[in-house]
Amino acid sequence: MSSFHDPFRAAIRSAVRGALDLPADAEVQLGAPPNPAMGDVAVPMFPYARTLRNAPPRIAQAVVAAFEPGGGVSEATAAGPYVNFRLDRSAFLAWVLETIDARGDAYGHVDAPLLRDDGEQRTVVIDFSSPNISKHLAYHHIRSTMIGNALCRIHRALGWRAIGFNFLGDWGTTHGMLLAAWTRADADLDLDEDGVTKLNEMYVAFREAMKTDPSLEGEARAWFARLEQGDAEARALWERFRAVSLAEFEKVYARLGVTFEAVCGESFYEDRMEPVIEHLSAQGLTAIDDGALVVDLSEQGMPPCLLKKQDGATLYATRDIASAVHRHEEWQFDRALYVVGKGQTLHFKQWFAVVEKGGYAFAGRMEHTAFGQIRMGGVKVSSRDGAVRLHDVLDRASEEIGAVIAEKNPTMSAERRHEVAQQVGYGAIVFADLSRERERDVEFDWDRLLSFEGDTGPYCQYQHARIASIVRKAGRELGGADLSLLTTDDEWQVALLLAAFPERVEKAGKRAEPHWVAGYVLELCRAFSSWYAQGSQDPALKVNCADDDTARARLALAHAVQQTLRNALDLLGLAAPEEM
Ligand code: ARG
Repeated sequence: MSSFHDPFRAAIRSAVRGALDLPADAEVQLGAPPNPAMGDVAVPMFPYARTLRNAPPRIAQAVVAAFEPGGGVSEATAAGPYVNFRLDRSAFLAWVLETIDARGDAYGHVDAPLLRDDGEQRTVVIDFSSPNISKHLAYHHIRSTMIGNALCRIHRALGWRAIGFNFLGDWGTTHGMLLAAWTRADADLDLDEDGVTKLNEMYVAFREAMKTDPSLEGEARAWFARLEQGDAEARALWERFRAVSLAEFEKVYARLGVTFEAVCGESFYEDRMEPVIEHLSAQGLTAIDDGALVVDLSEQGMPPCLLKKQDGATLYATRDIASAVHRHEEWQFDRALYVVGKGQTLHFKQWFAVVEKGGYAFAGRMEHTAFGQIRMGGVKVSSRDGAVRLHDVLDRASEEIGAVIAEKNPTMSAERRHEVAQQVGYGAIVFADLSRERERDVEFDWDRLLSFEGDTGPYCQYQHARIASIVRKAGRELGGADLSLLTTDDEWQVALLLAAFPERVEKAGKRAEPHWVAGYVLELCRAFSSWYAQGSQDPALKVNCADDDTARARLALAHAVQQTLRNALDLLGLAAPEEM
């Protein structure tokens, strides 16, 4: 439940509950009627058909018959299986604008931490970004990184304690290959400059050489064994590779404003896996299959989950289980999200099932927050086949946006332009990633995502800047405006949408879907645009029209749109420049 209180929605809910004799906490779904002429808020009656043993249209009629105006709700009408309510416009407008003004940057956020029964704050651990070291962050990493970042922000807005967890891929046989490659290559290679590129080139060359020289594989394995045994030389080199990689990742994170509460690699779990294996074995859940240690999952209709290979090496799943145990010990999470591509669905299903079988206290609290692939010209982008670096993508986006701004706004200082170009360039890339349901694939299309028109970041950021400029240039006093002067349907639609923001945030959090917030940003921009466009037909409908009182009321509404847009963009991890 949100601790944000909307008295109008509350009045509608209690009218429905009262009319139908439902318990005080019965769920009442609120939506928008298909056509604004029908009313302001629509409530479907289907959910009550079964308990009330009655047809939804009859239930709707009963609600209408029992309705009495009050609490800012003026009218109820039945439309088939729905009841449409109409709100008292001036009371509602006053409430919406006052609330947004009072809450400011916190509008859309709950006003108190979300507590669980033991009085502690509800906690979510969000595993995101989690790249493998000794490689660059590639363009496709934007997905996990920015979906996870948005989910941290959304959860915090909803009162959760959110722990962003970067589970670095820093362990496994590939790291043996790197060590072997390093010792063969020029050991004086300077890693201080562009070290990750050098590491990656070495690695790629080594893999290539492995194809013709099978002995290299044994060499790599031997190096990994040394690393596992804590050999000082292997350890020191590996630590250096890790530090060089992390420093490089940090640069990209800093550009995007992404931070983590914990950065913890797979290597950290080396000595934390044995207790997991013992715990599972003690319950008779493990078996030897072809020399490997596995947990049978045939009852769950899945292939067995591998815990240990024949040679004793532990596996990705074992590390994930050990890490979940650690995360629960550390933070007692109520929810744990793993923002990882759809390609790993089976992996997550398998180890979640093992956790369940193992009777761990946190079973059932984990969710694989899966996302689709990024495609360029219809082809999947990944780090194997010639990765496109995220750094380069961000550079190019901000350069191109900078050129557009220079044209649109020639008086902006070069310094300011540089800053805004970065904010909007990143906005273009990030919004393209967040604006659709995460499970869908994203088609990367430069021209489309950089455009100032359409479903893009630059469009939304531009709308925000435009409103800021309208309000600024008008230079009128907004406080104490007479809101009863807001009488057009366009204005009313904007106000309704403003009030819907907190519920959208809540929905985005529940479903772990930032796209609910991104879609809201687009809707609000479009609603504002069509309201604003009226002014070009008829000067009396201009936001900053000639009549001072009306202009002040409209500017107050526009200002509330600006604040709400800014808050919504912020939840997505995007800046809202005041000028573009
Ligand atoms: N490092 C892995 C990869 O690049 C992703 C790790 C995701 N997180 C996890 N807990 N398994 O594919």
